Amino acid sequence: MVPLKRRKLVPTGAVNTGTGPVRTKFPHVVLFLLERKMGTSRRAFLSQLGRRKGFQVEQVLSESVTHIISESNTREEVTAWLDFQGGGQADVLLLDISWYTDSIRAGHPVDILDRHRLQLKSFSSKPSPVKSAVFSVPSYACQRRTTLENHNTVLTDALSLLAENAELSDEDGRGVAFRRAAAVLKALPSAVMSISQLSGLPCLGEHSLRVIKDIWENGASSEVESTKVSERFKALKVLTGIFGVGAKTADRWIREGIHDLHQLQNSGQTLNRAQQAGLQHYDDINQPVTKAEACAIEEIVEKAVSSVLPGAQIILTGGFRRGKQTGHDVDFLITHPEEGREVGLMPKVVSWLEAQGFLLYQKTTRNSYLESKADGPGRPPSNMDRFERCLSIFKLPKMEKQGAKDSQNVTENCLQANQKSDEPECPEAAPDRRWRAVRVDLVVSPISQFAFALLGWTGSKLFERELRRWARYEKGMSLSSHALYDNNQRKYLRASSEEEIFAHLGLEFIPPSERNA
Ligand code: UTP
Ligand code: MN
Repeated sequence: MVPLKRRKLVPTGAVNTGTGPVRTKFPHVVLFLLERKMGTSRRAFLSQLGRRKGFQVEQVLSESVTHIISESNTREEVTAWLDFQGGGQADVLLLDISWYTDSIRAGHPVDILDRHRLQLKSFSSKPSPVKSAVFSVPSYACQRRTTLENHNTVLTDALSLLAENAELSDEDGRGVAFRRAAAVLKALPSAVMSISQLSGLPCLGEHSLRVIKDIWENGASSEVESTKVSERFKALKVLTGIFGVGAKTADRWIREGIHDLHQLQNSGQTLNRAQQAGLQHYDDINQPVTKAEACAIEEIVEKAVSSVLPGAQIILTGGFRRGKQTGHDVDFLITHPEEGREVGLMPKVVSWLEAQGFLLYQKTTRNSYLESKADGPGRPPSNMDRFERCLSIFKLPKMEKQGAKDSQNVTENCLQANQKSDEPECPEAAPDRRWRAVRVDLVVSPISQFAFALLGWTGSKLFERELRRWARYEKGMSLSSHALYDNNQRKYLRASSEEEIFAHLGLEFIPPSERNA
């Protein structure tokens, strides 16, 4: 904090937010947050929140300021401070933080009530009488609606990074705990304004709360910051960024002194076919896939499927079905309305795609699911499903700008582009390369299991995990991407839509766009 005596009033109109140009939704409301008693990092945090909602929050007190917001200060304290600054205009409003937090929650400056005005007598030792409301959410993510609108990204990004680090370090339990904590914050209807609001929330363990408090008090979590820069975390990220390399392999390589792609290439390690392809297309695969690219691939797969089996249907699943604008891959589910007609479909689809030059890599695994003793309810529900599945790397031609708009032409353009690029191995590094590599997952399901497969492949991963946990612990049922088994009634519960599965589970239906836990 700049010592008070050195502070200067800046001339009217000067906008100094410290973050460059801002979009102001409410030009007649110019805010200044008093650092006194609020602290530097909380002030920065709250200022940032307000700016994201379109409020003009000044970094420095100026004559243009219309509202001075303070926390735990009395009216006398703020006026004394103002006098010391050389006054301010007579009509500046002196308001309590509760007006600011109410306004942020409302998304606009709210009417000023008595409780928003600064009090005369000191109550600064007592907690503010009006605190932000305590949040409340149900404890299973599958009972909540989680859209892509996240009001707490600062906190959830931090917790997600710790989750990722735990998962990469083979500490799945800790990973899930952080994921659950992040998911609870993602489901909140507004930004967290004070730690006390979190008191009744589920899934916020001691560790997650410590991280949140650290961010709250210091502007950042020391654990998150040190993880981000740790050599081990960075190496795990780089190495598992290779398609076909999991946490275990990456860990083994790191122990052998391999920390980056260069060291890997020079190490003489034997790579399997997937890893070779992963390394070859590393940059492309680690670049997010856009919705437009997903749609272009959808058309290609649709064409492949309808060419080899008319009547077969495909649906885009995964994050794109939940409304995400980007993803790390593109997921498809394929079925046929007549049970049994889907048998043998995958090899034909793959051959078609291969013949058209759309596949840079593929590995197909056969369906191994049987509703028998081995796969039936006796065994614990597993994350692994046993559908016929093709893990692939697509060669997606870059679309001409005009062609991309005209959706009817997408497949034709792609086909032509692939046929034109006869140079068989146009290297990834070629500067004018006219294609990019995209990870694509194809899954074939018989129609009788389609609803379960669709639910299972739509995600998010945590939402799926929570559905299975709910089924098991609250309902005595086993849910997988193939079936739902009621352990009490000792029978399978059939369903032909996602809605029916939610109903079997005694859950309110949550549409895909609200499964972003
Ligand atoms: P993804 O890993 O593709 O996640 O799995 P996503 O939500 O689409 O995220 P991005 O955008 O690609 O990064 C999609 C769904 O498929 C299920 C996962 O549980 C998830 O819900 N899945 C994935 C399986 O059921 N089995 C698998 O082997 C892989
Ligand atoms: Mn996906």
